[in-house]
Amino acid sequence: MCGIIGYVGPEQAQNFILDGLATLEYRGYDSTGLVVINDDGAKLVRSVGRVSSVRDELAGKPLIGKLGIGHTRWATHGAPLERNAHPHTDSDKQFYVVHNGIVENFQDIKTMLEAQSVTFKSDTDTEVIPQLLAYNYKKLGDVKEAFLKTIRSLKGAYSVVMVTPLSPDTMYAARLSSPLVIGIGDKENFIASDPTPIMEHTKKVIFLNDYEAAVITAESCEIIHIKKGKLAKRIPEELEYDPEQALLGDHPNFMIKEVYEAPQTVRSALLGRLRVEQKLIKLGGLELVEEQLRYIDRIIIVSCGTSFYASLVGEYLIEEIAGIPVEVQQASEFKYRVEPLNRSTMVIAVSQSGETADTLAALEKVAGYGVLRLGVVNAVGSSIARLTDAGVYCHAGSEQSVASTKAFIAQVTVLALIALYLSDGNTPLYEEMINELDKLPAKIEAILKLEPAIKKLAKKYSHHRDFLYIGRRYMYPVALEGALKLKELSYIHAEGYAGGEMKHGPLAMIDENFPTMALALDGELFEKTMSNIQEIKARGGPVIAICNDPAKLKDLADDVIKIPKTIEQLQPLLAAIPLQLFAYHCALALGRNVDRPRNLAKSVTVE
Ligand code: M6R
Repeated sequence: MCGIIGYVGPEQAQNFILDGLATLEYRGYDSTGLVVINDDGAKLVRSVGRVSSVRDELAGKPLIGKLGIGHTRWATHGAPLERNAHPHTDSDKQFYVVHNGIVENFQDIKTMLEAQSVTFKSDTDTEVIPQLLAYNYKKLGDVKEAFLKTIRSLKGAYSVVMVTPLSPDTMYAARLSSPLVIGIGDKENFIASDPTPIMEHTKKVIFLNDYEAAVITAESCEIIHIKKGKLAKRIPEELEYDPEQALLGDHPNFMIKEVYEAPQTVRSALLGRLRVEQKLIKLGGLELVEEQLRYIDRIIIVSCGTSFYASLVGEYLIEEIAGIPVEVQQASEFKYRVEPLNRSTMVIAVSQSGETADTLAALEKVAGYGVLRLGVVNAVGSSIARLTDAGVYCHAGSEQSVASTKAFIAQVTVLALIALYLSDGNTPLYEEMINELDKLPAKIEAILKLEPAIKKLAKKYSHHRDFLYIGRRYMYPVALEGALKLKELSYIHAEGYAGGEMKHGPLAMIDENFPTMALALDGELFEKTMSNIQEIKARGGPVIAICNDPAKLKDLADDVIKIPKTIEQLQPLLAAIPLQLFAYHCALALGRNVDRPRNLAKSVTVE
């Protein structure tokens, strides 16, 4: 949530800031702002709405200055209004701050400052930072010391970047539980919430760690440990980057681009790991902890949203293939739950962004228990990737649309590999799964060709206010994920249910206005799903069935989407694709913004 960007160097800061903010807009898009510092002081522009509106406002009258910071907001405290947009400043307009996260003790700080006659202008928690900084500066007379003292007073989660005309060639930054990466250029330096906007300028980066602050000029970058007050020695790392990833190409939006990347996503996740000839799974990231893995007798997977549903598929896979008990917990619940944990428990965090606050907190919770912590993460170098003991990257490339699509595909692929790896070959499914995994990209390509037909179905059904998704066994998590896609993209109310639960309540909702998407693929429980469809039809409910053999649903389903066959364990990787396309086209039919659904942000870095 919230995107932060900053520049110091020989160029005009505004250009990098506006381009960078556009790249970071997936993190929040309620309002936008930037401040640029020059010899005359600070120039601040803030606006409700997207980066493009600020760009339009500045066309022909750019902000001049070679130091500046910007912010794109996802509102937590205070409505999306100009006064709540970042950067925030103090009453004397000396310190300008952008912030991502939540200052939990903001009310205490505010009360203290109000008692000193400080007047606040916004409804945000963030404003206490520049106001406290101004207060500390009056006492200390030194910008850096005042900044560090202010940061030490903050509780909660933050990434903060500050500039001031009092120190017109320096950016000050700090991080606790919210990402910030510094780009080290040639006589210019950059800062951002994620590396994407920086990478076309430099590949040398430093990811700030928790409790680290940075004092950044065009020629230097000093990292200070906030608690110890000492310099921290950090060596920049080189990141790999494919600039094509960030471009739309011929696609109208990122969501459809990313859905169409699914075949390549599976190939990338399997590359070098699935050795079909040798019937071998090689996961270099797990070899480091191979010894510890032998003693694992319980696995807890923590995650949120789509990653949670991918984890549920992982639960079925690991239990069936590796024979290890698994439970999947929503990270937001896990972190507050009291339960026994011991050294033979392994915790796997599944996350596309690697920055989800709840998932990070879940990992932090188990830090003292000696449990092995693995990451199944897409964003390289992200907080979760760095906090875990070992892991397997998803290699899906940058996912920019708020709705997660190819990341789900990559996560399930990686979890299938982990299940096979943990099985040590001791499963009758071993060879068959290896062979089938190899065939999946071509099968997904065949499904993508169904897009025109799915678009027609979406047009037919998108006027409905409610939708039910049902599936059994491996199709149950896919039903949950399909319902999430529909609701977040089209705002149609959708619920996912295990088919077996229908009689226990949901059947009461069914009538001619309440359609069901039934995941009726061939497999052990096909007949049982057919019974569910019969029961829905008997109550007048329209049914769309995702199936392998439409003849089996003749005279029963109102509409069918036929997809290629694979083994049940891998069906989620195929069945998810038509559901993504269906949600996408329903959203378009209803005129929704598919890449930026209302009220959401791509990376949920606050609790
Ligand atoms: O980055 P993460 O995978 O940790 O994010 C988890 C969820 O916030 C995310 O999957 C969310 O549910 C998506 N909007 C779903 O499309």
